[in-house]
Amino acid sequence: MYAERVLSGMRPTGRLHLGHYHGVLQNWVKLQHEHPCLFFVADWHALTTSYDEPGTIEQSTWDMVVDWLAAGVDPAQATIFIQSKVPEHAELHLLLSMMTPLGWLERVPTYKDQQEKLMHKDLTTYGFLGYPLLQAADILIYRADKVPVGEDQIPHIEFTREIARRFNHLYGREPGFEDKAKEAVKKLGSKRAKLYEELRTRYQERGEQEAIEQGHALIDEAQSLSHADRERLFGYLEGSSKMILAEPGALLTEASKMPGLDGQKMSKSYGNTIFLREDAESITKKIRTMQTDPQRVRRTDPGDPDKCPVWQLHQVYSNADVKTWVQAGCRSAGIGCIECKQPVIDGMLKEQEPMRERARMYEDDPALVRNIVADGCERARKLAQETMRDVREAIGLSYG
Ligand code: TRP
Ligand code: SF4
Repeated sequence: MYAERVLSGMRPTGRLHLGHYHGVLQNWVKLQHEHPCLFFVADWHALTTSYDEPGTIEQSTWDMVVDWLAAGVDPAQATIFIQSKVPEHAELHLLLSMMTPLGWLERVPTYKDQQEKLMHKDLTTYGFLGYPLLQAADILIYRADKVPVGEDQIPHIEFTREIARRFNHLYGREPGFEDKAKEAVKKLGSKRAKLYEELRTRYQERGEQEAIEQGHALIDEAQSLSHADRERLFGYLEGSSKMILAEPGALLTEASKMPGLDGQKMSKSYGNTIFLREDAESITKKIRTMQTDPQRVRRTDPGDPDKCPVWQLHQVYSNADVKTWVQAGCRSAGIGCIECKQPVIDGMLKEQEPMRERARMYEDDPALVRNIVADGCERARKLAQETMRDVREAIGLSYG
């Protein structure tokens, strides 16, 4: 069975918090068991908005990678790398920029949104306008099938698909493609060839998505086909041009429901975060001093969990029994707030224990992290170089 390749990236923003864990990282950890995964630090992306303060990128990168590892991203299963160590991303970005209409970039919703949100920054730059295209290059260079992203990034995936289509349309035709494709079909053997033709008809005449998926599986299973023939079969299945860059799909990551210390969404800009691998004392203190129902001033006042951010944390960390205990105890003033907070503290510490342990190993031996990343960069680079060979050839740049 062909396993779909998953790719995702994160800007190096420094230490990650529980919101990142409950949203993105848990999802990555799950995906790495199901797919070949590539996860990378989008350090060039950080420069698109922070070109005037690049000094923090290096430290933020290492801190973030340690957080990934601490959260359970496993270098034996997933490839972890840094964007700027695979300069092929930049080459693909440049080549794609030649055929990218300006209007497409100007219409990407994050362009205007971010400019308005980051008013204090001058973002009327070439790099900022082009950042969705850099993201497209990040994705297309690995021929990723699935890209886990948050809702705000969905338009970037759609844009990436449009770029792939445009590229294939412009450069995907080779002389005598039809004949070569038909030859490749024969190489499948008569039984498979017949099935391939059926699936091709079902897709092209009736647009059956399932037929295309079965067709892909059939091509993947066929052995001893050259890379070029395989590509021709993919292209011939869908239309008549060769598919050089693959259109990725988005894998929507549910927004994290992790509430912050004040009940708002956990976010660094609200100052309501608990970091991954934060020490136990500091976590305990943050929870002990966090806001409760403002109406509950004295211990003897009954409270209302619905007006209390601690209750929201119980939704994440407590089982049904504890929740019943909170509801009853709070409303009757049977329990105090410190008492009520203890199961949340316990739950958080327990959740972080394995993370702290893993992190300790990497903090004690930074060379370990460097090696994991060096290894990942090398693996990623090999894949990127393969795609670039095809891209250069398609454009007519593989001379000399
Ligand atoms: N643009 C993404 C963000 O700001 C990060 C990113 C860069 C990315 N390249 C990517 C995500 C490729 C997925 C795939 O969050
Ligand atoms: Fe909040 Fe618990 Fe105190 Fe009630 S008892 S106000 S739920 S911390």
